[in-house]
Amino acid sequence: MMKHFLVEHDRDDLAWVTFDKAGESTNTLSAETMEEFAELLDHLKKQSLRGVIVRSGKASGFIAGADVAEFIAIKTPGEAMSLVRRGWSTFQKLAALPFPTVALVKGFCMGGGLELALACRYRIAVDDPATRFALPEVMLGIIPAWGGMMRLPRVVGPNAALDMMLTGRAIDGKRAKRMGLVDALVPERVMHNAARSMMMEAPAARKLPFAQNLLMMPVMRHFVAVGARKQVLKRARPEHYPAPYSIIEHWEKHDGDPFAMEPTHPHSIAAISQHPTTGNLIRIFGLQERMKSLGKQSSFIAKRVHVVGAGTMGGDIASWCVLRGLTVTLQDQSPQKLAPAMERAADLFERRLRDRRLVRDALDRLIPDVTGAGVRGADVVIEAIFENLAVKQALFATIESQAKPTALLASNTSSLKLADIGATMRDPTRLVGIHFFNPVAQLQLVEIVAGERTAPRWPEDAAAFVRAIDKLPLPVKDSPGFLVNRVLGPYMAAAFRMLEEGMQPEMLDKAATEFGMPMGPIELADVVGLDICLAAGRAISGESPGSNESPARLVNLVAAKKFGKKSGEGYYRWENGKPVKTAAGNIPAGVTERLISPYIAEAKKAVAEGIVSDADLADAGLIFSTGFAPFRGGPMHYAATL
Ligand code: NAI
Repeated sequence: MMKHFLVEHDRDDLAWVTFDKAGESTNTLSAETMEEFAELLDHLKKQSLRGVIVRSGKASGFIAGADVAEFIAIKTPGEAMSLVRRGWSTFQKLAALPFPTVALVKGFCMGGGLELALACRYRIAVDDPATRFALPEVMLGIIPAWGGMMRLPRVVGPNAALDMMLTGRAIDGKRAKRMGLVDALVPERVMHNAARSMMMEAPAARKLPFAQNLLMMPVMRHFVAVGARKQVLKRARPEHYPAPYSIIEHWEKHDGDPFAMEPTHPHSIAAISQHPTTGNLIRIFGLQERMKSLGKQSSFIAKRVHVVGAGTMGGDIASWCVLRGLTVTLQDQSPQKLAPAMERAADLFERRLRDRRLVRDALDRLIPDVTGAGVRGADVVIEAIFENLAVKQALFATIESQAKPTALLASNTSSLKLADIGATMRDPTRLVGIHFFNPVAQLQLVEIVAGERTAPRWPEDAAAFVRAIDKLPLPVKDSPGFLVNRVLGPYMAAAFRMLEEGMQPEMLDKAATEFGMPMGPIELADVVGLDICLAAGRAISGESPGSNESPARLVNLVAAKKFGKKSGEGYYRWENGKPVKTAAGNIPAGVTERLISPYIAEAKKAVAEGIVSDADLADAGLIFSTGFAPFRGGPMHYAATL
């Protein structure tokens, strides 16, 4: 009796294998499901069949990948190798079946799930926006060792395969068809017929075009590998992130065979399973899942959003919500003030949707609203006007009198106290903070702020809303700078102080990126805007605008209207969206420490004060906002390992 698989034979001698993991809403490949699948394959092999169709019994998708909980449990290289062997040999069995096999994919097909599909002779994808293929192992610091490194290059060619494996990028159905990852892309209503006919006709398996095949030859592999290493080096240092280099090495030297490399080789599976990065990345994945589950208690569903203030933040919050399928009314004082946000939105839709009809539909869902009529019909109202308490209070008086009683009322304020904004409301328990980060489309984290008087239901609804627009909610207390800006503050201040001492901006930025930050603090200040940095620094430290405690050079640059990237000059001169930098000098001893330790000290203080509920959430929050070196596992975790 099988627990996770159902096999049905039809009159054409086809076996329909439905994977439906017991007790779960998503199919994952655990030790138990893999064992059952291997037994099933042994059994099928002995039958005389026209073909085998593998499909999913879950509405959510095909297969999400391996069961990550089992990676977390791995302690020794031996355990890592046996997990690899289990998947590898099971999929070898699938590939060796003496009759045609097809994976019928609707929804996500990730990691081990894609490796399973690659071990089938054919793949059919259902044409649906939810259908996505990826090998995201590299993001967890591991490698696609269940046959993916061997089979994917044979199916789509080495360049496309390496791109997928080294970035973890997901591919939609149309793209998968174009690159040959799937043999057919069909509408859902004909998916079963398509699988049946493919089995009955059993066309010759697709071959790589000549030029791609050439790249598979050993000499050419070397050149492809050199190019790939160069690309990876731009994004990840080998000592910080060994997995992508391991993938390249396995493909180049061993044709993707995970058992061929000496276990002592720094890129072997045994070695990377013991590398601290791997444990840290897997831990972060777990924390990300934890954040994704926040807001699950709430049944709040938003269809309409009203955003007030179409500036940097409001405009981008509005377009992001539209991109995620919501209808948004965007309010500002005049059509002229709305125009730049509408233009940026059109840009975002073009880039992300790449389909004329979808772009047009998105534009239809973004409604300019000078009078603010949208408040009445909105499920969520987000205020993102400039940072002025009295004006925000007046605005919320209007919003409160017009909004539906069930509507979520939120401010995007960075530096005002939520309790102060809500102080003049009839019902201050309704106000919640939904604090996005700039640039909205790129940063996953959103802080959910509960003020002193906020009733508990609203932050929960806010977390549900943030999940619905595919961001990660982090509940924080209403305290200056919340978590993220508060922790960034002392770090940026330390950088500014060192600049005042005459240190070179390039050198400071290099110290930070070598530590593993995505961008150095000086470049970051230029990107955020020096005016905003100065104001934020003053707000968090409680300094009055007239005093002269702020770094002199920063104050002077702001006075000279040199705001950074947006004005073309700040600490750096900006050309074509890039800072003009001179070569960075050597990093003197102690500089990195002086830069990073204030960050860590502040994170510890914030956790101790209960700004976030625990150290794990602080780590996750700071990684998904400030990009704190993910391979170090977050500032709190890093501090604990020092
Ligand atoms: P901004 O100055 O770019 O945009 C503000 C917009 O609000 C302007 O277009 C203005 O015309 C409009 N506005 C002002 N009063 C209005 C009113 N009564 N009714 C309708 N529209 C009105 O400001 P930005 O940078 O977008 O900031 C907005 C809020 O977001 C602030 O509370 C800020 O603290 C917060 N924030 C800013 C971040 C940033 O990086 N800029 C990051 C996260 C939060």
